[in-house]
Amino acid sequence: MDINASEFTLSEELCYLNHAAISPWPKRTVDAVKCFAEENGSNGSRYYERWLKTEQRLRQQLQTLIGAAGSDEIALLKNTSEALSVVAYGLDWSAGDQVIISSQEFPSNRIVWESLRPLGVEVITVDMETAHPERQIIDAISERTRLLSVSSVQYATGLALDLDRIGAACKQQGVAFCVDAIQSIGVKPFDVEACQADFVMADGHKWMLGPEGLALFYCRREWIERLSLKQYGWHMVEAMGDYDRSDWQPAASARRFECGSPNMLGIHALHASMSLLLQVGIQSIFDSVSDKVQYLIDNIINRGGMILSEAEPERRAGIVTFRFDGEDIEARYRHLQENGVICALRGGGIRFSPHFYTPETVLRRALDFSVKRLNS
Ligand SMILES: Cc1ncc(COP(=O)(O)O)c(C=O)c1O
Repeated sequence: MDINASEFTLSEELCYLNHAAISPWPKRTVDAVKCFAEENGSNGSRYYERWLKTEQRLRQQLQTLIGAAGSDEIALLKNTSEALSVVAYGLDWSAGDQVIISSQEFPSNRIVWESLRPLGVEVITVDMETAHPERQIIDAISERTRLLSVSSVQYATGLALDLDRIGAACKQQGVAFCVDAIQSIGVKPFDVEACQADFVMADGHKWMLGPEGLALFYCRREWIERLSLKQYGWHMVEAMGDYDRSDWQPAASARRFECGSPNMLGIHALHASMSLLLQVGIQSIFDSVSDKVQYLIDNIINRGGMILSEAEPERRAGIVTFRFDGEDIEARYRHLQENGVICALRGGGIRFSPHFYTPETVLRRALDFSVKRLNS
């Protein structure tokens, strides 16, 4: 049976184009959650050993998806913002240190760095309204730059940065490289070795088709011991589970960033979603999403709309943001919502974000509701 039809059972009246916000779960994820709930109800933690194996497998799946050297570099945290905070508050700052971010960042990847201002840290915001954003970002590096933190794909414009180029410049100049990859992992191939990122974070509820509240945090091996810890508990120690022991040391792996009980329900859900992504294959997911994004762009332009997101194919991932000149954008957004087109209002336009399984009929219907005259 066609995997798309068997895995995605969205209500037929919906045009779901909001994967850059929160994704619906595949059927196998719904089943995994139901099964976990039933097992809890009937057996409590009786099969905890098996649950732990699922947790280990999830770390391996995430390692595979981003091409990390080992699953010991993967921590499971609450969300992207928490992982960014682990990095920001794990580094040892001196007054005058600089952090570089871009002007298009989602608030999570700005606020956390701005919060370091009382320590004398300066945040340099690079203007991205340029034909050469990577060059602009790299040119901003100075001898005071300690860290550069960007989103792999910007949440509003959908701009996909050339991470390999930025990562190489960071490496050459001794700058730590942090990537908020929530808008690319699960939709676009991501290779942590190729881009030489030191830290990568991404919550599971967008392109990874998982639940909210469970995020991947990649910490390159040589950084694991260099980040100071701010949260402590039974789960982050090397001898986890040896409760009688009075001495302790932090785990050698990235588990040291996970202070207490894991989100087992989320782990079972994300594990199921990841199995689908890996089964379909990330390159084939990306190819399919790229075709849908192209289809949307061509049709919006043909119908007289303006594309606010990236026009160049190599700068895109799964986001198309657009508007029609002179139109009340909030009224258009309300009209789309009322007609079951689930999308978002971002960057001064309507943001559509299809995933690999989104049928063309859904794209066509959503486009019709995007141009239909609004009642004034
Ligand atoms: C680029 C980007 N970073 C971070 C977040 C927020 O992530 P979290 O809720 O996992 O902290 C979002 C959510 O829209 C986002 O688009």
